[in-house]
Amino acid sequence: LLSSIAPETLFLMIVSKPGFERSPEELEVVYEELTFIKALSHLSTMVKRQLANFVKVEQYVHAGSVVFRQREIGVYWYIVLKGAVEVNVNGKVVCILREGDDFGKLALVNDLPRAATIVTYEDDSIFLVVDKHHFNQILHQVEANTVRLKDYGEDVLVLEKVDIPRGAALENSNSCNFNCGYSVMAGKAEKILEYVLETRIDALSDDISEIDLFVEDFILTHDAFMPANTVCNFLKSYYFRTPYRATRDSISDSCTEEVRCKRRVVQFVYVWCSMLKINFFLNPVTNSFVEELFCHVIDDRKRLGGMEEIMTRIGAIRTSRENMQLVLARHPAIVLDCGVLSARTPCPILPSDVCNQIIYLADTTCFVLPIRVDKTAEEICELSRRRMSFLAEPLKLVEVKSNGEKLIFSPTDRAIPTVLSLNSKLYVVNREEIPMLVPMEDQNGPTPTTHSSILHLIDSQELAHQLFLFHLQLLRATDSNELLYQVIGRESFPQSMPFNLDLLVRRFNEVQHWSTTEILLATEDNRVEILKKFIHIATIAREYRDLLTVFAITLGLSHTSVSRLTLTWNVSLKGFQVSRIPIFQYFKILEHKNIFKTLDV
Ligand code: CMP
Repeated sequence: LLSSIAPETLFLMIVSKPGFERSPEELEVVYEELTFIKALSHLSTMVKRQLANFVKVEQYVHAGSVVFRQREIGVYWYIVLKGAVEVNVNGKVVCILREGDDFGKLALVNDLPRAATIVTYEDDSIFLVVDKHHFNQILHQVEANTVRLKDYGEDVLVLEKVDIPRGAALENSNSCNFNCGYSVMAGKAEKILEYVLETRIDALSDDISEIDLFVEDFILTHDAFMPANTVCNFLKSYYFRTPYRATRDSISDSCTEEVRCKRRVVQFVYVWCSMLKINFFLNPVTNSFVEELFCHVIDDRKRLGGMEEIMTRIGAIRTSRENMQLVLARHPAIVLDCGVLSARTPCPILPSDVCNQIIYLADTTCFVLPIRVDKTAEEICELSRRRMSFLAEPLKLVEVKSNGEKLIFSPTDRAIPTVLSLNSKLYVVNREEIPMLVPMEDQNGPTPTTHSSILHLIDSQELAHQLFLFHLQLLRATDSNELLYQVIGRESFPQSMPFNLDLLVRRFNEVQHWSTTEILLATEDNRVEILKKFIHIATIAREYRDLLTVFAITLGLSHTSVSRLTLTWNVSLKGFQVSRIPIFQYFKILEHKNIFKTLDV
């Protein structure tokens, strides 16, 4: 009997019956048909066989029938078998889905209301449906599960199911009630932000240490794909979003929805400024957005109920803004004085801080120019030209390193004094003068005749302690965001400059070069003493947990020019007595070549 009926008709007949009434042969027919469906092509055979037990069919005779509405609770996942549907978001048709496409996964997996209204686009539309319970049960076994949201035929958001909870907030899902099953893999910037607002913000608690990893990623990296002013504009339009009123909605529902949108924006801004701290208020765009938002909240409070919580939140944002303004208003400090890192480096370094930068001209004469750390190469050239009126434009800013390498800064490069290599010089020259620039004599470092070390006069304990205090200050000033700007690329974050990180790196290089130079320039008589002194300083630094000093000295002493001083190493090894110098517990010297590779930190 089965073989005499057309396969499609037979399939529809079987899936119209409840699952428990389907015979093994019928299940085989359903399975066979499922293998032809595009939306299921990524599912394994086992999953499709299981699905054969549960798929049902839903038919709509007329075009224009509502399958479900935006913001309803999701009950089924749909696959278009025949016909087509319109996806309608906030009253606008964003795409048409046709045979083989699927929809309705999002609400089921995220446990959120429907993100769109679905209306049949053709007469005689037929869908295969899987209920939420079986969908979740079966989906659990699916290896890769991707959702593509479309707008006007184009993918705008690609989501992938994450099986393992991500982030601290998700791990504590009991306390935060997080239930987000999808994470964003790709998408249009604004769609990603909308997704963040609609799926991640409502459940956020006051404690920003529990921020969802995805929100955190967005806030830290948006500069690379969505500038702050675009984020603020989107937030503003979202704040004023007129709620889409589906026919079944009451007026009070849509008011609640309106307040919810406003709450999401304010909550997002709260998380944003709590994470970026001073960097948030340093950016004029985000800084002024807080005030703008505050005015809107004040206005809305007169008009709408349920705004108290939002009011409290925006008040907290403004308080942290006032606190940050106090830091920002502090007097500019000199952070680099003629290339030397100032011992009173403030915490943190601000764009308004100053470097007394030595600028060289092509004839090797020089002058000191006080410049703010955030000045661009172009601005430094202009300041130099104003100071030295004989300089003719167009001017270039060039770094000449001790190895002869020349780096020509582009006009928009910033944070130049803090990125300069330790032993380099900064020139302001014309283009044709660049080939003539060569390193100067003093860039080779001090010579034994010009260098007189006073290291032996300073107590190692005191020295290590002072190093520790200074490094701690630099480290505290360096926000983790700066590491991100450095890793992803400074050019992607034009508003945020990792000055503090630059100075930390610079400090590391200083300590490293200092240890190498002191040993190389020491006289034969006291070289061993100096070497021991550095090992001693590194040992004390290790007790302070000042890893910057430990690693910088380790690298400094591993420099080939130091490690090839075999005689020194031999003598220094003989001079050490294990019982009196505990550093031997850490520096397990097997042979002098890899002496520091065994450092156990
Ligand atoms: P869900 O939110 O469960 O219900 C509406 C469905 O429409 C949604 O899942 C997606 O599967 C589908 N959809 C396709 N494109 C979009 C879009 N641009 N915005 C929202 N939903 C979309």
